[in-house]
Amino acid sequence: MNPLPIGDATLEIFTGDLTSLEVDAIVNAANTSLLGGGGVDGAIHRAAGPGLLEECRGLNGCETGDAKITGGYDLPAKHVIHAVGPVWYGGQKGEAEKLASCYRRALELAGEHRLKSIAFPAISCGVYAFPLDQAARIATRTVAELCRERVASVTRVIFCCFGGDVTKAYEEALDELAPRM
Ligand code: APR
Repeated sequence: MNPLPIGDATLEIFTGDLTSLEVDAIVNAANTSLLGGGGVDGAIHRAAGPGLLEECRGLNGCETGDAKITGGYDLPAKHVIHAVGPVWYGGQKGEAEKLASCYRRALELAGEHRLKSIAFPAISCGVYAFPLDQAARIATRTVAELCRERVASVTRVIFCCFGGDVTKAYEEALDELAPRM
């Protein structure tokens, strides 16, 4: 699928490992402690090395729906933006708003740090069990809206999908945003 131009940015999909991407920031799907875990959180800490955890220890955790930024250490990415997604409890506990907030806060931090390229995993779609299609729609629409409003400094947004089912969900979500020819 071709990158989708929105505002001053392009939105694109990459299928593979987020820790391999050489971008200004990769976004971690963290927990409120910011002290690591499994899934993409575990992969990022393994690839970044102990310096990342050291810096995270000093951040005093992070609220669900919020995000905090650190260095990238041994990762090819310059920074890690740690976003804390909501656990899915059936959709009646503000999960959609909290997930949208993760993308908004990550892009606000990218803007504050004048970052140009950012790569997101499918936040909350693993251990936190957020329905994939709904999460992909929230992610792509929130990012598109902020890029259209030029809230963020980013010119390249990558949705990093760890497998075919995630890629399909994101392709369908981006397709809904593409202008009808
Ligand atoms: N690169 C890209 N995406 C990945 C990678 C990777 N290396 N590893 C896993 N993923 C994908 C998963 O397949 C899923 O689509 O990231 C998405 C988010 O899944 P999780 O990592 O399980 O994150 P989440 O659902 O937000 O749960 C967060 O899990 O790892 C713990 O500490 C973390 O407590 C927190 C919780």
